[in-house]
Amino acid sequence: MRARNGLILVAIAVFAGNALVSAADPPPWAYPRVPPETRVDPDDGKPRSVPGGARTYSVTQIRDFFAPPAWYDDHPPMPGIVGKGRQPRVYACGYCHLPNGVGKPENARVAGLPVEYIKQQVAEFRSGARKSSSPGLLPHVWMVEAAQEATEAEVDEAARYFSALPPPKGWYKVTETETVPKTRVAGWILVPDGSGQTEPIGQRIVETAVDLGRTGLRDYHSGYVTYVPVGSVAKGEALVKTGGGKTMACGVCHGADMRGVANVPRIAGVSAIYTFRQMFDFQSGARNGKGAPLMKPVVAKLTEEDMLNISAYLTSLEP
Ligand code: HEC
Ligand code: HEC
Repeated sequence: MRARNGLILVAIAVFAGNALVSAADPPPWAYPRVPPETRVDPDDGKPRSVPGGARTYSVTQIRDFFAPPAWYDDHPPMPGIVGKGRQPRVYACGYCHLPNGVGKPENARVAGLPVEYIKQQVAEFRSGARKSSSPGLLPHVWMVEAAQEATEAEVDEAARYFSALPPPKGWYKVTETETVPKTRVAGWILVPDGSGQTEPIGQRIVETAVDLGRTGLRDYHSGYVTYVPVGSVAKGEALVKTGGGKTMACGVCHGADMRGVANVPRIAGVSAIYTFRQMFDFQSGARNGKGAPLMKPVVAKLTEEDMLNISAYLTSLEP
């Protein structure tokens, strides 16, 4: 009987795996999860606008997975798959990656990536070669659904659209600090919890919206602030430029300015928690597509602190 209870406990522990913390668990600051009890405010019917925006939208329209707001006219008209997606399971690419492809910390920047790289990654989300180290994380689950349901022609159209867009300047502002606001998770990023209190940053990156209100409206002219520990940018720079005896100089493959070479993607000026997640996912084996064998030796000996420092530095670079 005792043994049986023990077994049941083990089964429960495995079932509850995401809640258990061990050295190999993905750090929650890089894989933020919206608490299941989260409820969104109902639409009050009032039209919303953004500074310099060309039109207004209701809250229901802003939340529409199949027609995200196109606030500005500083990008070409979105092709159907980017602007509208396809019912019922292909949410518009532009809903998550935004109409100008600038992306958010909980997803990815796609503006300016090579067409072939975009198509390869979508194929790997579809085949299961590109998973998340944090199974069930919703933005990732939805990316996989979009990849599974979109046709080759749609993916090709989206890839060409995003690839032609310029990478944005100053979307992430890296700030070294000892303390950060106390945070909670909303919209799959950390946001100040409203208490006005601060706490030590510790070994974390806290990437949050510069203006929560505008980010909540899916305003793609309002970026993020990336709080990182004091000294992390210089430590990351040393690793990126020399390998520090633990890894290879990244420029060999990603280009001296980290803006990418041929189909090797750019790693400069992207979200720091995105960058950390990718290194962590290559290391855990969750990201295991065609290009992964080149990245595995790069991350094999890196600690979480190294990956944090590298992410802080790379995000501080001009994209
Ligand atoms: C529901 C949100 C969502 C939608 C819709 C969505 N994506 Fe994604 N996308 C994500 C997330 C989340 C990631 C990966 C984040 C990670 O690995 O941490 C991602 C990653 C990507 C990447 C990888 C970028 C890189 O640098 O490796 C590409 C390419 C991409 N998406 C293309 C698309 C295309 C094309 C569409 C439309 C057919 C689309 N996405 C629709 C959420 C979404
Ligand atoms: C031997 C070549 C090589 C070296 C050296 C290398 N990389 Fe990479 N890296 C790649 C390739 C190829 C990919 C695309 C992998 C794929 O297709 O999944 C990649 C992808 C990445 C990504 C994911 C980008 C995205 O948009 O999702 C990050 C982050 C990254 N590398 C960081 C680094 C860092 C940091 C270093 C140096 C410490 C480094 N890489 C050194 C070849 C390399």
